[in-house]
Amino acid sequence: MKTKYYDFSEIISEADLDDIITAYKRGEVIAFPTETVYGLGADINNDEAILKIYKAKNRPSDNPLIAHIGSIDQLEGLVKVVPEKAKLLIDAFWPGPLTIIFNKNNNISNVATAGLPSIGIRMPDHPVIESILVKGDLVLVAPSANISGSPSPTTMKHVSNDLDGLIYGIIDGGNCEEGIESTIIDLTSEVPTILRPGTITKEDIEEAIGKIEFDESLIGTAVVIAKAPGMKYKHYAPEAKVYIIDNCNNIELILLEINKEKMNIKKCALICFDENNINYDTIGTPNKFSLGSQSDLKYAIRNLYRILRDCDILGIENIFIEGYKEVGLGFSYMNRLRKAANGNFLKEK
Ligand code: TXA
Ligand code: MG
Repeated sequence: MKTKYYDFSEIISEADLDDIITAYKRGEVIAFPTETVYGLGADINNDEAILKIYKAKNRPSDNPLIAHIGSIDQLEGLVKVVPEKAKLLIDAFWPGPLTIIFNKNNNISNVATAGLPSIGIRMPDHPVIESILVKGDLVLVAPSANISGSPSPTTMKHVSNDLDGLIYGIIDGGNCEEGIESTIIDLTSEVPTILRPGTITKEDIEEAIGKIEFDESLIGTAVVIAKAPGMKYKHYAPEAKVYIIDNCNNIELILLEINKEKMNIKKCALICFDENNINYDTIGTPNKFSLGSQSDLKYAIRNLYRILRDCDILGIENIFIEGYKEVGLGFSYMNRLRKAANGNFLKEK
C-alpha cells in the first residue's frame, strides 16, 4: 500500500480535510497528531476499519482503544451516564491529555473495546485532530501510531518509520507538545483510580475531584495485573538495553558495568540533565543526549521518546539514562523509564 501524506504542519487545507474525513468514513486508517503522541485512527462505527489498526500495529486484540471526540455532544452517544466527577474533570482538563474510563453504551463496538463493558474517552487538544472530529462529526478510536512495543511517535517521521506502507495515510501536524501518552483515570471503580500516569498528575486531578488512587500495578513491587490491559505489555522500549541511573552519583557503577559486559563505548549512550552533563565526561561515550534542565521536567518528558528513537537510529546498544524523584510529573517520567528499561536500575547491590 502506498501511504498518502498530508502536510498540516503549517496550515490546515480544507480540501485535504474533506479528503481525510471521506477516507475515515469509507473505513480507511489514518495517523493523526495530538498534543500527547500521534494516534492511528479509525471510525468507531466500523469494525473492519478498527481491525486494520490492530493488524498494522501488530497489537494484541485484548488491548482496547481510546475513543477521541471533538465535542461534548459526542460523549452522550458513547456512555451510559456521565458521573458528577467526570463533569468536574471535563471542565478542568478537556480538551487535554486526560482519558476518562466510563461504562460504555451497549451498542459500542466490542472490537474497539476488546470486549470490556467500559470505554476510555478523551478530547484531544490539537487543532488538526479537532478540525477532523468536529467537521466530520466523527468519533475516532485510536491507539498510539507505533508498532506495538516501540516508543510512541511524537513526530510524523516516527510514524512514517514504523507504519509507512502499512496504513492508508499519515497527517503531519508538527511535533507533539506533551510527548507521552495521556493520563488515564478510571471512574468506574469505587475510588477513582489512575491506570496510567501522564502530564496531568495525581495532584492536578485531586485538586478537581478530591482523593484518588494509583492502580496497584503502578506502585510498590507487588506483581498485580494492570487494569489497563495495555500496561501489562513491555512498552515504550527502544532496541538498546536501558539502564536507569541516579543523578551522576554512580559513575563508578556505570564504568564497572561497561567493563563487565564488555560494552563497545562507541555504542553506549548517556542521557542526562544539563546540570550533570560534565560529570559524565570520564565515561568517554561520544553519544550524549540532553534532558534539559532538572528544573523543567516537561522538557525531558517532551523529548524522551524522540531521544530513545534517535538512539535506535544510531544503532546504540546500551543506554544509561538519569532517573528523577517519583513525585508529580517525576512519577510519570519514571513510569515510562521503568518500562523502557524493563525495571533495570543500576544500583549498588
Ligand atoms: O495520549 C494518548 O492516550 C494516545 C493518543 C493517540 O490519544 N493514545 C494512546 O493509546 O496512548 P494506546 O492504545 O497506546 O494506549 C491506551 C491505553 C492502553 O494501555 C489500554 O489498555 C488502555 O488505554 N485502555 C483503553 N481502554 C480501556 C478501558 N476501557 N479500560 C482500561 N484501560 C483501557
Ligand atoms: Mg500505545
